[in-house]
Amino acid sequence: MTVLRIRPWAVTDESLILSWANDQQTRKNSLKPNSIKKSVHKTWFLSILKNPKIHQGFLCVNSKKNKLGIVRFSQKTSDKMVWEIHFTLAPGSRGKGLARPMIQQAIAVFKRKNPKISLLAKVKTSNLRSLHVLKTLGFQKMKKKRRLLCLRLKRTKKINIRRPLKPQRPLRAS
Ligand SMILES: CC(C)(COP(=O)(O)OP(=O)(O)OC[C@H]1O[C@@H](n2cnc3c(N)ncnc32)[C@H](O)[C@@H]1OP(=O)(O)O)[C@@H](O)C(=O)NCCC(=O)NCCS
Repeated sequence: MTVLRIRPWAVTDESLILSWANDQQTRKNSLKPNSIKKSVHKTWFLSILKNPKIHQGFLCVNSKKNKLGIVRFSQKTSDKMVWEIHFTLAPGSRGKGLARPMIQQAIAVFKRKNPKISLLAKVKTSNLRSLHVLKTLGFQKMKKKRRLLCLRLKRTKKINIRRPLKPQRPLRAS
């Protein structure tokens, strides 16, 4: 079984994260479908690293330190008590049920430092996998705008993980 760990992302992770962000499936599921330019991503990534009070990014790794995915939290400008969550698995790590334990553990880490924050996810209605995972984690549908669903995890909802999580179903070969 793969043991997942969550650590803050670092500047050395930037180019790999860009490659995941520019993967075809990620762009299709994103609100902005165009591919991201290298220079634009670097500037954005560095600005995020410098602003932990409003952006926090985490990398998910396995026990061999292979990089599996990311979870990012960004404060909403309209309401400082609400942060938006974003997540992506590396293309080779998809289809194995890793998103749920990765997100669950990242939320637990985030909530330890930010216990009063509510989380918001914006997901395309076509992204059934993400919707399924978020709902099973306790996110509830708030509103639907055209092809976009807003889901919210109330701050009182507890996701309390004390030890590294294992995926909830056996890994399949990718
Ligand atoms: C979306 C993403 C995070 C899902 O990751 P994953 O853990 O590999 O997803 P899986 O294929 O294992 O499926 C996750 C769950 O969705 C379920 N699922 C799969 N297809 C489904 C469908 N068509 N309808 C409903 N549920 C579905 C699976 O059965 C599984 O649920 P279970 O664990 O309860 O059995 C991953 O594919 C990814 O990174 N995609 C690109 C980036 C992205 O879309 N990010 C999210 C933007 S909001």
